[in-house]
Amino acid sequence: MKLQEQFVRNVRHCFKERGDIWLNKLPDLIRYCEQKWSLRIEEPYSLSINYVAPAKKVNGQEVVVKLCLPGDDFLAELEALQLFQDRGIVQLLAFDQEQGILILEKILPGQELADVTDDEAACLIAADLFKNLMTEVPKKTRIGTTKKREEKLREIVKSHPHGLGPISRVRLKNALKVFTYLNATIERHWLLHGDFHPYNILLSNDGNWKVIDPKGLLGEAEYDLIQFLLNKLPEDGSYEVMKNRVDVFTQQLQLNKKRMILWGYCHAVLATSWSVNGTQYSTSFFKGIGIFERLFTEYYGTDIDI
Ligand SMILES: Nc1ncnc2c1ncn2[C@@H]1O[C@H](COP(=O)(O)OP(=O)(O)O)[C@@H](O)[C@H]1O
Ligand SMILES: [Mg+2]
Repeated sequence: MKLQEQFVRNVRHCFKERGDIWLNKLPDLIRYCEQKWSLRIEEPYSLSINYVAPAKKVNGQEVVVKLCLPGDDFLAELEALQLFQDRGIVQLLAFDQEQGILILEKILPGQELADVTDDEAACLIAADLFKNLMTEVPKKTRIGTTKKREEKLREIVKSHPHGLGPISRVRLKNALKVFTYLNATIERHWLLHGDFHPYNILLSNDGNWKVIDPKGLLGEAEYDLIQFLLNKLPEDGSYEVMKNRVDVFTQQLQLNKKRMILWGYCHAVLATSWSVNGTQYSTSFFKGIGIFERLFTEYYGTDIDI
């Protein structure tokens, strides 16, 4: 079975040996799905760390099969999907908890919100979807909090005291300080999507946009929009684009601009850290760090320093 090269690299980078074992199991897992749900799996989509492919059931129904490495992240995604059902999210048709399998409604035509070239129009669509998604934190849940992400950054700072990839020591430490301050001062926690960005929003043939791929996260609403802000920044004029995105989301959703910029700063540092692989890293996330610093200075007249 020929797998997409970038997908194989991503899985190995993220999951190390567990990833290799899972990659070797994929042909068996595909056969298992085909038998269990009487369907035929087609060529996969463009993959990052999960194996996602359209499939056709023997009764003609079109679905999507998503294979994930079993474990806590998969269970959080499954729980988030269940909690968000009927809130503008993709429909969950079936699942296999032990094997890490989701059978989903296939969204057709499935054009991504990332293809919408009018940036402000895309933000307005996303803001509407986000409003509908915002959900109370469930009483009992296995979904992790943004405090856990702060701890991840703390580990990174500890193990990279001189900086990591393109991120300087000062920025790493400052971002941790900001992360700690923000988590300690959250007024209201929500159940969040956890990976809300324009590639995870697809057009459905009933004319509505639908959200896919919720990772599940508990935290402040402002935090959940950062991944959207960091995606698809243009080469030229990225500062102005970001500034406008922040304006649209804070106005449409009545969110706190200062906290959104601060969350943006520390999440951009975390996301850049996660992207570092040898000498490679996400230049777009890295650029985001500088943009949030500049935005803060423009609005509040000082450098970010909590
Ligand atoms: N229900 C769906 N209907 C149509 N296309 C989908 C569906 N789910 C996923 N896809 C396609 O597969 C891609 C990867 O799926 P996604 O759930 O986002 O995986 P990952 O967690 O790896 O990002 C999406 O960007 C989209 O193009
Ligand atoms: Mg995705």
